[in-house]
Amino acid sequence: MAGYKVYITRMIPQEGINLLSSVADVTINPDDAPLSRDALLNEMKNGHYDGVLGVLTDRIDGEFFDSCKGLKGYANYAVGYDNIDVPEAVRRGIPVSNTPDVLTDATAECAWALLFATARRVVETDRVMRSGSWTGWGPLQFIGGDVKGKTLGIVGAGRIGTEMALMSKGFKMKVLYTSSSDRRNAVLDAELEAELVSFEELLRESDFVSIHCPLTPGTRHLFDAKAFALMKKTAYIINTGRGPVIKEEDLVEALKNGEIAGAGLDVFENEPAMAPNLAELDNAVVVPHIGSATHSSRNNMALLAARNLMAMLEGEKPETCLNPELFEK
Ligand code: GLV
Ligand code: GLV
Repeated sequence: MAGYKVYITRMIPQEGINLLSSVADVTINPDDAPLSRDALLNEMKNGHYDGVLGVLTDRIDGEFFDSCKGLKGYANYAVGYDNIDVPEAVRRGIPVSNTPDVLTDATAECAWALLFATARRVVETDRVMRSGSWTGWGPLQFIGGDVKGKTLGIVGAGRIGTEMALMSKGFKMKVLYTSSSDRRNAVLDAELEAELVSFEELLRESDFVSIHCPLTPGTRHLFDAKAFALMKKTAYIINTGRGPVIKEEDLVEALKNGEIAGAGLDVFENEPAMAPNLAELDNAVVVPHIGSATHSSRNNMALLAARNLMAMLEGEKPETCLNPELFEK
């Protein structure tokens, strides 16, 4: 039953491919690597696809849409959609979707993994053990930061930020948060008596700052030298959102000069590269954009993206649509 032609820009979990294959002829980029810009545009020009399922490294903009005339929809395999020019998709009447909710727990858990790894120096001391240089227990060795009872600052209390904050309950943390709309978060207020504060106050008061806002022109380089200078010298920054929210060269300086205590990073300004000297810093824990990388999360992202694309092929509104106004007629 293969009526439609669909392209998947990168291998995804098989469940999603199987589902799409029940309604479409599916072609998949055979390499486990991102397509170059030219390769993507050429594939679009030559393939005459009805739908595309792509990933966060694909840039979906006017030039992309020009290369695939007649596209019925684009499904992003990611919650973040700074790779998509949504206003351009609206202008062209092409629906686009993302994968929220199914990766909320996994990403919040990744933020916690980074928080503890950073505070308790897990990776740095793992390296000490493996190098054979540990000389035995000592009262002054590898002292880190406390977590219980400390203040957690959530920058961007959306789905993931809210979940990360809720997970702090067992550690009896005080929770502060910012909101781009200055709207209170009813869940955090009710469950944690959290406080909505200004960005500057959050920086001054927090022992852990965790980034969960989307990347937009307004949040690019939100964390620069000026922001790090406002943070406590004993504070840690955690980023599982998008790399360019931090000006990475300023972070390297802040970590080097002891302006903050440490950083746990899942995302980077110029992935897959890191800023010069970041890799040499023991007070940075760096992992390769694995926020959503659990079995259930990645499988459910594949299924949700597939269902979204199937709906768009039929001219229906996908479950998690980024331009629902196209369907309000
Ligand atoms: C991952 O970074 C995502 O946005 O899903
Ligand atoms: C998206 O960024 C979310 O919080 O789910």
